[in-house]
Amino acid sequence: MTYAQPQRDPGFVTVFDDTYDQPDCRAYFRGMDMRGYRNQQHAAPMFRAGLAELCRVRGLRRPHIVDFASSYGVVTALMKHRLSLEDLFARYRTKEIADMPTRALIAADSAWLAARRDPAWHAWVTAIEVAPRAAAYGRAAGLFDAAFVENLNLSPPSAALATALSQTDIIVECGSVAQLMPQALDRMLTAAAPRRPWVMASPVRGNETAEAQAVLERHGLLVETAGGPFVHRRCEDNAEAERAAAQARAAGHDTRGLEDEGFLMARLLIARPHDEATGDIIGTPSWGVDPPPAATV
Ligand SMILES: C[S@@+](CC[C@H](N)C(=O)[O-])C[C@H]1O[C@@H](n2cnc3c(N)ncnc32)[C@H](O)[C@@H]1O
Repeated sequence: MTYAQPQRDPGFVTVFDDTYDQPDCRAYFRGMDMRGYRNQQHAAPMFRAGLAELCRVRGLRRPHIVDFASSYGVVTALMKHRLSLEDLFARYRTKEIADMPTRALIAADSAWLAARRDPAWHAWVTAIEVAPRAAAYGRAAGLFDAAFVENLNLSPPSAALATALSQTDIIVECGSVAQLMPQALDRMLTAAAPRRPWVMASPVRGNETAEAQAVLERHGLLVETAGGPFVHRRCEDNAEAERAAAQARAAGHDTRGLEDEGFLMARLLIARPHDEATGDIIGTPSWGVDPPPAATV
């Protein structure tokens, strides 16, 4: 099956693409910090809650996660460690960190992260990312157990990635790439088919696509909204705010008090095989995580 490429301006979602492939994560974190990013802060605890629920439902002890479009590993960092997004921002604001050569930074990050590792963490993380240096940083810093630099929107997975996907229990993605690239989503789910992975994503409202929804359904997954709306980031200017609100409204969202106030908003989607979609979604006590309050920055 072939898919139309996303038509909208990529700048709608990402305003600092030049930081995507740097030797280390500093410019990326500074860019997110300056623009008031919050999506990962809200999504990562929900991904963790989904992972815990998946382990409960399937009796898994060492689940395999794919962090899709992982960048430097922000989502993995927040899932795997006792850390907040603000802790990460604060670290990369310091002069000491800003002045470090990359090699020293990677060693320092690796030790800093290891000291904050959640002792209960027991999952294997595979990253899929098109930016080679971001993926390499994530490996070197100890975030990813494996990383593949492949563009599944353009080509099927390599044999090695197909094997990794065939062992995948859950795919997580923060930032809309899975919605905007249904072909990549389809290829991941096809390679992972025997394992029937769950998919959790936190797309920007208005970036949801019928194509991605159809892919998830065709792979036998029931798609539910499991949290949000929560802030993705501040809009850059009035023009972007108007665009964000118009796009969210066109997708059926009520933008009052949210996009209308100048924020890109996101929500949490969960896609599970019908027989595993127990209705026990985020916000119920057994998930162990509260939905973030609407419009919490
Ligand atoms: C908005 S960033 C989000 C990164 C990360 N998920 C986060 O929350 O910080 C989008 C990422 O998608 C990556 N990307 C773009 N196209 C991709 C593709 N076809 N496959 C995998 N990653 C892709 C970019 O290189 C970039 O790192």
